[in-house]
Amino acid sequence: MKKGTIRARAYGKINLFLGVGPVREDGYHQLETIFQAVDLAEDITITPAAELSLEITGRHANLVPTDDSNLVIKTYKRFNEYLAEIAHAPLPPLAITINKQVPVAGGMAGGSADAAAMLMALNALLDNFLSRAELLHIGSSLGADIPFCLIGGTARGTGRGDELVSVLAKPTTWVIALSHKHLSTPEVFKTYDRLQLPSTALPDSIYQALAKGHPQTLAKQLHNDLQPAALSLLPELKKAFQTTALASIVSGSGPTVAALCMDHYHADLVAEELMAENIPSLVVASETRGAHLI
Ligand code: C5P
Repeated sequence: MKKGTIRARAYGKINLFLGVGPVREDGYHQLETIFQAVDLAEDITITPAAELSLEITGRHANLVPTDDSNLVIKTYKRFNEYLAEIAHAPLPPLAITINKQVPVAGGMAGGSADAAAMLMALNALLDNFLSRAELLHIGSSLGADIPFCLIGGTARGTGRGDELVSVLAKPTTWVIALSHKHLSTPEVFKTYDRLQLPSTALPDSIYQALAKGHPQTLAKQLHNDLQPAALSLLPELKKAFQTTALASIVSGSGPTVAALCMDHYHADLVAEELMAENIPSLVVASETRGAHLI
């Protein structure tokens, strides 16, 4: 077992396309989605200690529970369950810290990024005893977005969103409009079902738009089937769409809104337009890396 402190990083995501299909037997919805990681990092630090503890720092840290309901603690426990299944000695107790940059409960997979970084850190503690496939398997049992946070970059997700194929994509620049309010992912999916909203198939044309990298062409491809559901729960989000961005889209289940821009200069302008409406925002770029040690 490795000694000392281990640090790992994973990134938040936006969904450039999110098509929602029927509910599956396991209660999840069938999805067709394009995930893209953005350069908002969640950093996890683990140090073997006398007892298990969790501290959270960074953006909106006070909004995240530090008890057993935290996904990082669930990841630690699930990892130990997996080690027991394969007759491996358990992990020691750990002092864990999370430094958050991804908006909390914003539809950007901040919690899933924590879990992905935690899986990388725990495996490093075991000198990378588990394979990548095993980490993806443990991650997928904890949440549908965790496998993507492990592989990162840009990827097509099907199934629950956890069956992934990497996709070639040129860099993109976004402004993320933040919301003071939060949305619960299950509630947004339930609203989608209740409103009997349409289901959109992923068009092949999006792959070319991503590979070519013309923001104006990509802008025409952005789509989210969950958007009407998120907007019906939080109608004030519509204000975030009134900018000169090429296109804006609710990210995942919301409530953050991702606005596609020409470049960083344009993004700064869009951020100013949002600020004039009292909407705080972050300028971000697409990120090619998956979860990794730092
Ligand atoms: O897997 P995760 O905990 O991230 O998902 C949160 C919730 O979002 C699920 O419990 C489910 O209600 C909803 N969901 C869904 N279909 C998906 C992904 C998430 O219905 N493919």
